[in-house]
Amino acid sequence: MNHVPWLSAVALGGTLLTAVAASDTPQLERGRAIAASSCFLCHGLQGETASPLYPRLAGQNARYLEKQLRDFREGRRTGGGMEAQAAKLSDTDIEAVAAYFSRQRSEPFAPSDPKLVEWGRILFETGKLAAGVPGCASCHGTDARGAEALPRLAGQQPQYVIEQLKNFRRPWRRSGSEAMHDIAGKLSDAEITALAEYLGQLP
Ligand code: HEC
Ligand code: HEC
Repeated sequence: MNHVPWLSAVALGGTLLTAVAASDTPQLERGRAIAASSCFLCHGLQGETASPLYPRLAGQNARYLEKQLRDFREGRRTGGGMEAQAAKLSDTDIEAVAAYFSRQRSEPFAPSDPKLVEWGRILFETGKLAAGVPGCASCHGTDARGAEALPRLAGQQPQYVIEQLKNFRRPWRRSGSEAMHDIAGKLSDAEITALAEYLGQLP
């Protein structure tokens, strides 16, 4: 399926067409076929995620998904066996599967404890200025939907967000953002839980 020249050309045309037709372009069909061949096992066919162990990919920004897949493929990011998954993908495959998942939609998670959610909202919007932690909204957007290579956090699986924020404290989850490494090192476990609960219930 990789490196078929005519298919790449059609997929490139598909990128331009997606502005008009949001489904059924050759690129999106290719992305869906890749998702159906392996990714669905953990992330769900529409990127809605199969369990709290796996991140949601539905509605995630395409540029961010592409960057993560290249980071996994080239060893800059490790974890969850994703290195082996990404190793199978050509650049064209990465663009297709990222385009496909970015166009899927999923429901936000039900809010848990309202006090925890409210605490998370305040941290997200204003950070902890005394400790030098900027509001997350300044990069991830007030609606937490990110942009381009900045990840969408709204509706992300809370368990995954908790795990990633803890991973960012450690030297091996450095890919792409010194800021995240620094910020995560200044958040307590309780603050991380509050942030994850707030983000999970956002549409
Ligand atoms: C066996 C389970 C499994 C399969 C199959 C799988 N993934 Fe993953 N994926 C994971 C796990 C676990 C993580 C979280 C890794 C970590 O902890 O950093 C992840 C993370 C990701 C991320 C990063 C998400 C983010 O928000 O940063 C992307 C993108 C991704 N996977 C895409 C894919 C694609 C595309 C496929 C199919 C080609 C795929 N995955 C197949 C388990 C899987
Ligand atoms: C200076 C900009 C900046 C600020 C402020 C910031 N982030 Fe990030 N964040 C990033 C970037 C860039 C990435 C993507 C890094 C990469 O490419 O791996 C990221 C990644 C993440 C991820 C991983 C997403 C995923 O899908 O795996 C989480 C979770 C996250 N940030 C949460 C937060 C929270 C919570 C705060 C506030 C306490 C915050 N960020 C503040 C820039 C920022």
